[in-house]
Amino acid sequence: MESGSNNVVLICRVLLPAGRSLLAEEGFELREGGLDATPDELLSLAPGCAAIVADPTVPIGPELLDAAGPGLRVVANFAVGYDNVDLAACRERGVAVTNTPGVLTNATAELALGLTVAAARRAREAEDTLREGRWTGWDPGALLGLELSGCTFGVVGLGRIGGRYAQLVRPLADTLLYTARSPKPDAESDLGAEHAELPELLERSDVVSLHAPGGDATRHLIGSSELERMKTHAVLVNTARGTLVDSRALASALEAGSIGAAGLDVYEGEPGVPQALLDAPRCVLLPHIGSATHTSRDGMAALAARNAIAVLQGHDPPNPVI
Ligand code: GLV
Repeated sequence: MESGSNNVVLICRVLLPAGRSLLAEEGFELREGGLDATPDELLSLAPGCAAIVADPTVPIGPELLDAAGPGLRVVANFAVGYDNVDLAACRERGVAVTNTPGVLTNATAELALGLTVAAARRAREAEDTLREGRWTGWDPGALLGLELSGCTFGVVGLGRIGGRYAQLVRPLADTLLYTARSPKPDAESDLGAEHAELPELLERSDVVSLHAPGGDATRHLIGSSELERMKTHAVLVNTARGTLVDSRALASALEAGSIGAAGLDVYEGEPGVPQALLDAPRCVLLPHIGSATHTSRDGMAALAARNAIAVLQGHDPPNPVI
């Protein structure tokens, strides 16, 4: 810590020991909101803090930034996504923003693969059948699903996580399509991936996995007209952000049988889960656990702490967003 500088770090909810210990070793004073911290509680904890450690569930806007005051230097997001942070408000106040890329790539891509298999093979319906005592024996015609080998996979957003998902499904895929802001020649040569615009990807894919960032620009990227383009047996997987998908439109498509199945880890309005999706058939729903491995969450905690420490000690942070 720089001598004479403000040394208070507000951890909006909780930070795992892998990150807390780094901050404590550097002599920072930690104020922790706890998992259930309300916006009002955070406002009352913020005055005088130099860093805010947030996570995707904590909106960081002008009110909290102003409550922290002019000594605030960094918002270290404990996540790779930062759609919870008002970047313009941070920029106006000269507050740096950082995230935690890389360390959660494998965990999130692996969960997307798991959801792909679970949704394609109707794991939820199958398990419910067993648990509810409705399994009366091996039935050649029951619970038939989509065989993934030989499928066309469409990866929407070929960044770090989308790229890792593409590597994982490559051995299964006959054809691998992707969208990205710009073509990715390396993925095309290494994975044989083919660039496509979203409408074409949706029309050709048997599995569509979303890996685009959240925020206004991608809100309802998948709505009713996009769902209509998909094959009636297609599987939609979302481990990125709930706002990418119009949940009502997805629930209607599942009800109507105009798509095959969905595997979701993220929702609009978390931790609420739209009732329409809870009621929809052929849908596997997980509670935002994409990065929930020991390795990934420890890595994220350490990275969030290192980013905050770097800024507070006057250095460039490892993972600047702005
Ligand atoms: C989790 O949702 C993340 O963005 O890291």
